[in-house]
Amino acid sequence: MSLNESGKRDGFTSKFGIIAAAAGSAIGLGNIWRFPYVVGESGGGAFLLIYLSFVILLGIPVMLSEFVIGRKAKRNTFGAFKEIAPGTWWPVIGVMGIIAAFVILAFYSTIAGWTLHYVYTSIINGFQGQNTAELTLMFEKFQTSSFLPVFWQLIFIILTAVIILSGVKKGIEKYSKILMPFLLLLLIALSVRSITLPGSFDGLVFLFKPDFSKIDSTVILGALGQAFFSLSIGMGALITYSSYFPSRTNLANTAFEVSIADVIIAILAGIAIFPAMFSLGMQPEQGGAGLIFMVLPNVFMQIPGGYIVSIAFFILLAIAALTSSISIMEVVVAFLVEEFNILRRNATIITAVAAAFVGLFCTLSWGTFENITIGGRNIFDTLDFTASNVLLPLGGLLIVIFVGWYMKYAEVEDEMSNQGALRLKIFGIFRFLVRFIAPVAIAIIFLNAIGII
Ligand code: PFF
Repeated sequence: MSLNESGKRDGFTSKFGIIAAAAGSAIGLGNIWRFPYVVGESGGGAFLLIYLSFVILLGIPVMLSEFVIGRKAKRNTFGAFKEIAPGTWWPVIGVMGIIAAFVILAFYSTIAGWTLHYVYTSIINGFQGQNTAELTLMFEKFQTSSFLPVFWQLIFIILTAVIILSGVKKGIEKYSKILMPFLLLLLIALSVRSITLPGSFDGLVFLFKPDFSKIDSTVILGALGQAFFSLSIGMGALITYSSYFPSRTNLANTAFEVSIADVIIAILAGIAIFPAMFSLGMQPEQGGAGLIFMVLPNVFMQIPGGYIVSIAFFILLAIAALTSSISIMEVVVAFLVEEFNILRRNATIITAVAAAFVGLFCTLSWGTFENITIGGRNIFDTLDFTASNVLLPLGGLLIVIFVGWYMKYAEVEDEMSNQGALRLKIFGIFRFLVRFIAPVAIAIIFLNAIGII
């Protein structure tokens, strides 16, 4: 448990602080880096449609379930299940979540490190005068080198740890509140530029016109993984965060607002990327994990004041990544502190060092360790796939079963309605979704992906 100066359990204070912190966790590289390249590889519009239905039918119920568990138990993600279901095997969900958090932290910091490097490159005006091919080459040279990406990754992990050490309220709330509206404005500006470039219309068609011939079981599992990753659900990040929520927070509204904000940012990122890509003559499936780093500098170079815009964009993206990575690291730190009585400072250092070690292998996946592959995926992609497409959905499946079938009807209703203070019109729908729709849908997607159905 993290204690503040007065010896009480730390918590979030204002309503806006809660939404900002939960949205800060959800909105990050998942929306701006991961969403566009997964959409690109998965055929565009049809993927978007499936993704959106997953957010509504599966994502929001899982998020709300995490809120119910976390605020009721007021414990870390492992301790929460021990508290609500003592003497059962349910805390296994917590263990899975902690493993997922750790793996995600390792590869997330790779991309966050790239973002920091691009802040630096923007500042030294490194994109100036380079054509599309040169910008792509510049990125690939950076991505495959063995020093710089590791250096920036370490800086990012240290930044995350420093914020974690400053405590929940002072740290997280303060940083997430102010800056995200600016990121939204910049994304809108980039989207406007992107759709006004010559030949950009096909990019919009790609993003919004469903072509169902591109859909197969892998793509569907990918949409599920993307939804879970982007919403920060399935591993207890939001169980941990909601354990700091006060009793008056309206959990259902918070889940809606956070999910809507998350989807809007992802779609805006798509509008900023695909039209520009088509205008530059690039193929949507080209780019992979490096997509935004190759495409966006081209857009910045075609914007008045592009120098400043590019600096601002990458700084804000790095901050969005930070507000997410602190929610990931907090899962592991809160677990170590509350379950093993380790000092918060030591728990943070242990987590950061271990994540940096595993993270090193992720970062060197395109260079030094490029030959290490599993089923055609390099180390980075393997960890990303395992965490996003397997661990998170599996965690989400168990979480909805826990709330839908293990917890008592009255327990869930009491927590969601703030002990009867709120009138819950959607409780029936929520109940139906967590008991039937979400578990069945997630199970079918899994069985389908491994070829059983
Ligand atoms: N949702 C974050 C993003 O979109 O960047 C990443 C993330 C945070 C994933 C927390 C999972 C998590 F528990």
